[in-house]
Amino acid sequence: MPQSHIITAVDIGTDSIKTLVVKKNNGDSDLEVLDIIFTSSLGMRKGVVVNPDKVSKNLQNSIAEIREPLRQSFNGIYTNIGGNHLFVTSSHGLVSVSRADQKISREDINRVIQAAEVVNLPLNNEILETFPKEFIIDGQKGIKEPLGMRGLRLEVEILALCVFSPYLKNLTQAILDSNLQINDVIFSPLAAAQAVLTPQQKEVGVALIDIGAGATSLAVFEEGNLIHTAVFPLGSINITNDIAIGLRTEIDIAERIKKEFGSCLLQKNNKKEKIKIPQLKEPLVFSKKMLAEIIEARIEEILDLVNKDLKKISRQGLLPAGIVLTGGGAKLPKIVELTKKELKLPVRIGIPKGISGIEEDPTLATVCGLALRGAESDDDGHFSDIGKGAVKEVIGRIKKILKTFIP
Ligand SMILES: Nc1ncnc2c1ncn2[C@@H]1O[C@H](COP(=O)(O)OP(=O)(O)OP(=O)(O)O)[C@@H](O)[C@H]1O
Ligand SMILES: [Mg+2]
Repeated sequence: MPQSHIITAVDIGTDSIKTLVVKKNNGDSDLEVLDIIFTSSLGMRKGVVVNPDKVSKNLQNSIAEIREPLRQSFNGIYTNIGGNHLFVTSSHGLVSVSRADQKISREDINRVIQAAEVVNLPLNNEILETFPKEFIIDGQKGIKEPLGMRGLRLEVEILALCVFSPYLKNLTQAILDSNLQINDVIFSPLAAAQAVLTPQQKEVGVALIDIGAGATSLAVFEEGNLIHTAVFPLGSINITNDIAIGLRTEIDIAERIKKEFGSCLLQKNNKKEKIKIPQLKEPLVFSKKMLAEIIEARIEEILDLVNKDLKKISRQGLLPAGIVLTGGGAKLPKIVELTKKELKLPVRIGIPKGISGIEEDPTLATVCGLALRGAESDDDGHFSDIGKGAVKEVIGRIKKILKTFIP
């Protein structure tokens, strides 16, 4: 099996590491699942690698579970970075078009993006990825693809996604210590977006909200571009902790209760319904109403943070394609109804597309998106001009990420 047809994606999350091995079959638009492995996470906090040794051990355990001969047939992983150290900033670049006939070349485009990437960042922060919002040719705004157009002056407006370098280093160290190569590092909600959003939704305006275990991530798209992103340090773990405190029980019991009986809103007909948890030293009895109130309060707090952020970018209640929910938190019953009520937008659960044989589970959105991004950049040499540029950019980015390890 040619190596380039096997793609390994690893979603390093706060709750679990999800490893997905897929195959790209010539002629098939969908990828095919070859193996999927879940390992409990250690060494992660709120979406960030805080203990590279522990993460590396878990990563090695996860990779060791990949079936043979598959394990031998991949050469690197596509993985993610998350956490609320990530932020976006806008920047502007300007260059003169180099060719005498004024035809804009790929080199001009690369140069103008590089010029825009000269951004004053806080100490120890660096750019992970840039997204051109629009190009401007001789003052004419709103150009998406300037390649081949003619002009004297080329400008670009970019959105730069920045990370706190020590956290990026922790992640790369964990991977390299596991004797794995890094093919690409992608911001978690952008990976999830790749698997669950359609180009049409991104065109008209949509927000992806990933409610993970340790963090909730937001990514907003419009006119096909990423226009905003944010990470809030609250997630499903906080709900479990709230249940443990509210019901005076242990964390693992609270986690079980959340998954078995949890809901974000109470249905009218089970207002008085009591739940009894047997098999404990002391029997635990509580009302469904109380449990739903605990969960609702925390989800409301998270959605309130999202709403304030949407307000900052003037998109509160104003995204025609609405909200798409992913991550383990999206599995809570009635989350769609509560989100609709809070954000006043259409809401649906993001089920990964483009990979045949995968479970319809919003928790798998990130790892599926990583595999899809991998398939795109691993495209067997059949790149369009834009694709070639993107691949060059990825290689440049990975070189930059790895450079921090070369003394
Ligand atoms: N059926 C369910 N109902 C409610 N919560 C659930 C359910 N299934 C999973 N969860 C919760 O989802 C969380 C795991 O989600 P996910 O796998 O998206 O997190 P992660 O990617 O590991 O974390 P992060 O993205 O924050 O780093 C856990 O806190 C778990 O309790
Ligand atoms: Mg996650």
